[in-house]
Amino acid sequence: MYTQKVMDHFTNPRNVGEIENASGVGTVGNAKCGDIMRIYLDIDDNGIINDVKFKTFGCGAAVATSSMATELVKGKSVNEALKVTNKAVMEALDGLPPVKVHCSLLAEEAIHAALWDYAEKKGIQIEGLEKPKSDIHEGEEQIEY
Ligand code: FES
Repeated sequence: MYTQKVMDHFTNPRNVGEIENASGVGTVGNAKCGDIMRIYLDIDDNGIINDVKFKTFGCGAAVATSSMATELVKGKSVNEALKVTNKAVMEALDGLPPVKVHCSLLAEEAIHAALWDYAEKKGIQIEGLEKPKSDIHEGEEQIEY
């Protein structure tokens, strides 16, 4: 059912954790299943993503897609990271079962939410980035990790 790459990223997920004083943090919920994802970005003065970490209350497919997504955005510019879609992540994992496609949206949305948070903190606009719909702001909802 799952490809070898999905199983690899699920059993050995990359970039799990959090970043203190992150440049941007995005927390999103998946409307379909209620699972939650948080992404931390460390972005340098040149707009390059130096480090990225994630935490999730998601399923195995969410873990695998987030792990791959963090690998794909690490070292990229903010604009390049915006192009890392859930489709690109799924391709990099050699595919996901159709019922699990919605899980791959968590990472993409959380990255966008974290980029939005970064842009707001810096007082800048990132072209092509839309305000995240499902961003969960701390205080509005209690999230236990
Ligand atoms: Fe919720 Fe996969 S079932 S993220």
